[in-house]
Amino acid sequence: MTIISPSILSADMLNLKDQIKQVENGGAEMVHIDVMDGHFVPNITMGPWIVKSLSKVSSLERDVHLMIERPENYIDDFCESGAEIVTIHQEASTHLDRNIAKIKNNGCKAGVSINPATPIEQIKWILTKVDLVLIMSVNPGFGGQKFINYSLDKIKELNKIRYENGLDFFIQVDGGITNSNAFDVVKAGADILVAGSSVFSSELGIEKSVQLLKNASKA
Ligand code: DX5
Ligand code: ZN
Repeated sequence: MTIISPSILSADMLNLKDQIKQVENGGAEMVHIDVMDGHFVPNITMGPWIVKSLSKVSSLERDVHLMIERPENYIDDFCESGAEIVTIHQEASTHLDRNIAKIKNNGCKAGVSINPATPIEQIKWILTKVDLVLIMSVNPGFGGQKFINYSLDKIKELNKIRYENGLDFFIQVDGGITNSNAFDVVKAGADILVAGSSVFSSELGIEKSVQLLKNASKA
């Protein structure tokens, strides 16, 4: 069963509590929190405070995606604020192994993410230590971009490595996920789909959009 992690980057922040309820009613299991620092990516978003606020109003698993330089400086803060999964970028970590260990020592699940043009080879040696690998299927920084098609080949390659080595990390895919490509992404090996605009900006409404995405991922 595919897990859906709606990204609140595309939510209406002034109605977030209500929108999160709709996400829950639609059957999502997680909530994806996109943290951007204006350095690693050309956009600025939110900090640990939002994770804390979400933990008070929802039992959805808090899935934090750090698109920031020097993530090691913020891991403690996010875990203390109630993050359950903390994902950092390989490209932003000089000491990736140390940073992954730091996330786990804080009692969070640890994820590593790679940008579209970064080869799977770059994270080969950390795969035994992570709980999740996030394959970016758009260049990180903004919601509403188009899915980059070669990401499918990267998901397949990673899924093959996971199978051949008997590993059990989750494969998460983020960027440009819609009802039209969800099935192909899952077929390639994804377990968790992140979706921002296709959930929060759809005219069908949030609850219905989550349901449709869940259905589309099996059909
Ligand atoms: C992009 C973010 C994504 C984004 C996805 O930098 O990491 O999580 O919000 O948005 P959509 O689904 O609209 O591509
Ligand atoms: Zn994200």
